[in-house]
Amino acid sequence: MGAANQMPTRRLGTSGLQVGAIGMGCMPLSIQGRPEESEAIRTIHTALEQGVTLFDTADSYCLDDRDIGHNEKLLAKALDGVSHAIIATKGGTVRPEGRWVRNGHPEHLKAACEESLKALDRQEIMLYQLHAPDPDVPYAESVGALARLQEQGKIVHIGLSNVSVRQLEEALSIVTVVSVQNRMHLFDRSSMDVLRRCEELGIAFLPYSPLAGMGQAGKLGDHERIRQIADRHQVSPQRVALAWLLQLSPVMLPIPGASRGSTITDSAAAASLTLTADEMAELNAMNA
Ligand SMILES: NC(=O)c1ccc[n+]([C@@H]2O[C@H](COP(=O)([O-])OP(=O)(O)OC[C@H]3O[C@@H](n4cnc5c(N)ncnc54)[C@H](OP(=O)(O)O)[C@@H]3O)[C@@H](O)[C@H]2O)c1
Repeated sequence: MGAANQMPTRRLGTSGLQVGAIGMGCMPLSIQGRPEESEAIRTIHTALEQGVTLFDTADSYCLDDRDIGHNEKLLAKALDGVSHAIIATKGGTVRPEGRWVRNGHPEHLKAACEESLKALDRQEIMLYQLHAPDPDVPYAESVGALARLQEQGKIVHIGLSNVSVRQLEEALSIVTVVSVQNRMHLFDRSSMDVLRRCEELGIAFLPYSPLAGMGQAGKLGDHERIRQIADRHQVSPQRVALAWLLQLSPVMLPIPGASRGSTITDSAAAASLTLTADEMAELNAMNA
């Protein structure tokens, strides 16, 4: 690994931690179509060299239930001894036969957290996110399980994912929430109300699928407005999409997914791209 590039940093919500303004979503390294382990590790090292310090994972980033923890083990191996890297994992989703199924039962979350600690080879998890509310379990019960894990010292900070404002408020009545991870990109602004509440409370907002998701990320340049702005700055359309998110809010911490070093290198540079007020207005209007 070479020396790390400087990247502008942002606060990880109320945790007091500072992280690179662009994080990395590690899901593509472990699901269907994943790269060889040696290439995956090279991609993670390239991210570090570009100044990425926040790595988003989950126990369920794997092929199926027999492969749970694949992504966490990969990160543990690639980031062994890298003390400034922050791994944010999740529990609350299982993968029977490769499907994505929610499980927010307290017993499951307790067992899943223990397994994540083993997979990550750590005594404590810096940021543990509840993957998604389980419609079969009262949300307060799932959040309560995380509160107990935090009391036991297994979790340092708690994050939520896939939540509404109401679910965020409910969780806040039980625990301190450091981050919220919901889907947000140029074509999906359905969580704008959650983002605004996070801003009011100083909670970090980690937009997932910030490039419109694995199947769409490569096609952002098909949109004329995005392409024109990208051409003006002589950067990729993907970099424009990430810069738009960063400029939308000071609590924003995008976690673009990557399986290749070249893509995370390009995405990382979005932390230093400044769009003009007119360009922001143009992009805001795209989905208005
Ligand atoms: N909480 C949840 O429920 C949830 C759900 C979905 C995702 N997530 C998290 O969010 C992360 C990101 O979401 P995502 O992976 O679904 O979608 P995404 O970040 O919108 O897109 C990922 C894809 O974008 C490509 N890419 C990245 N940077 C690029 C660039 N600069 N130029 C061109 N292509 C680029 C990558 O290609 P290569 O693979 O070729 O590098 C990858 O296939 C995931 O990895 C995961 O950590 C969370």
